[in-house]
Amino acid sequence: MYFPKGFLWGAATSAYQIEGSPLADGAGASIWHRFSHTPGTTLNGDTGDVACDHYHRWREDIEWMRRLGLNAYRFSVAWPRVLPTGRGAVNHKGLDFYKQLVDGLLGAGITPMITLYHWDLPAELQDMGGWANRDCAKWFADYACLMFRALGDRVHLWVTLNEPWVVATLGYLWGQHAPGMRDIGAAAKVAHHLLLAHGKAVQALRGLGLPNAQIGIVLNLSPQHPASDSPQDEMVATLWHNFVNRYFLDPIFRGEYPDPVLYFTGEFVPYVAPDDMAIIRTPVDFLGVNYYTRSVIAYDASDPTGSRTVYQAGKLHTEMGWEVYPEGLYEILKWVHDEYGAIPLYITENGAAFPDAPNAQGEVDDPLRVDYIRAHLEQAHRALQEGIPLRGYFYWSLMDNFEWAFGYSKRFGLLYVDFETQRRTMKASGRWYAEFIATQQGG
Ligand code: FCB
Repeated sequence: MYFPKGFLWGAATSAYQIEGSPLADGAGASIWHRFSHTPGTTLNGDTGDVACDHYHRWREDIEWMRRLGLNAYRFSVAWPRVLPTGRGAVNHKGLDFYKQLVDGLLGAGITPMITLYHWDLPAELQDMGGWANRDCAKWFADYACLMFRALGDRVHLWVTLNEPWVVATLGYLWGQHAPGMRDIGAAAKVAHHLLLAHGKAVQALRGLGLPNAQIGIVLNLSPQHPASDSPQDEMVATLWHNFVNRYFLDPIFRGEYPDPVLYFTGEFVPYVAPDDMAIIRTPVDFLGVNYYTRSVIAYDASDPTGSRTVYQAGKLHTEMGWEVYPEGLYEILKWVHDEYGAIPLYITENGAAFPDAPNAQGEVDDPLRVDYIRAHLEQAHRALQEGIPLRGYFYWSLMDNFEWAFGYSKRFGLLYVDFETQRRTMKASGRWYAEFIATQQGG
């Protein structure tokens, strides 16, 4: 199995999950800092205060990337490191951290892909309503513009937002993520303002006329299969499909919301100004797809959504409880391609948590992760062979890290992290991935 020349072989991380020292050198607090310090929000009260200490160990981490043979690395910028209150005065020490990181990566021959927003909103902006405040779209675009100016000469791959669907639902509807709200009206507004923020940032980049700069968005996509061929199961699976997969894609590529969004948001339709959809559908250069699993949905009148997910007994599940379903990656890439046209695609996240532990020799053997990656690469390759313009694959994650509300209990890394000593050990999956990448060099 050979992938095209120039294919990006990467791994992904995000700021709050790995950096630690969230308030160092003049940085402002983020909503995740605040949330994780609120009792009862994360498993064992875990916080990102230390995480992988990447803020101090980034040189060593680049060395690990080199050993893995990566030619690309996707990471995020912590907005409140650069703009402590979200707007206004720049914290140059925060900006310098990312400048050094980028220069270090380029020096190691690794292409950086920067995510501008991976969930750590400056807490001060939350005090003004956060993403539920329409002004947040403009604050984000200003921050994005600052980053384009600071790094746009060296960084050519930009992601506006990571998984806005998760921000709106887990953050504002179901409350498991910062800012921990349960307010359907707010969630519908948040989704719209995230879309607007994305569109404004794309326009800001275009306005700067940077040569070579490419920009896109990263969405979590996942097939929603009916539990049976009964019309009721098919109906609810379609509703979930529209809600999960079309909620952001339709506005971005077609300039309209999919109808059934109303089924979930009810009367809480957000205010859409006349120009909004034109801004939101500003053409992007690529789409990033985060793929982990599928859902199987059955009709269930007793649930407020009229549906429930059906656990696939007998199938392998990861530590997150997610079914291992590699064909779903092919299915979703193909669906996006057929539905929205020949936009270049990246797999910006794909990975699995398993209960890894070092053996007596200190080695971490994780055969299930090797199988997971291999099987998903096979499906990615299948998509490529059918002419789908897939440009790269980023494993989630480079190293074990702070898995949001699950704290440090879920290990996704190619590198095992001992959180007591901060020692990194390459897992067998990391060695396998490095060998696989090496076989691709001549291909
Ligand atoms: C994705 C997130 C990422 C990580 C993985 C497991 O939804 O983008 O930060 O938590 O899931």
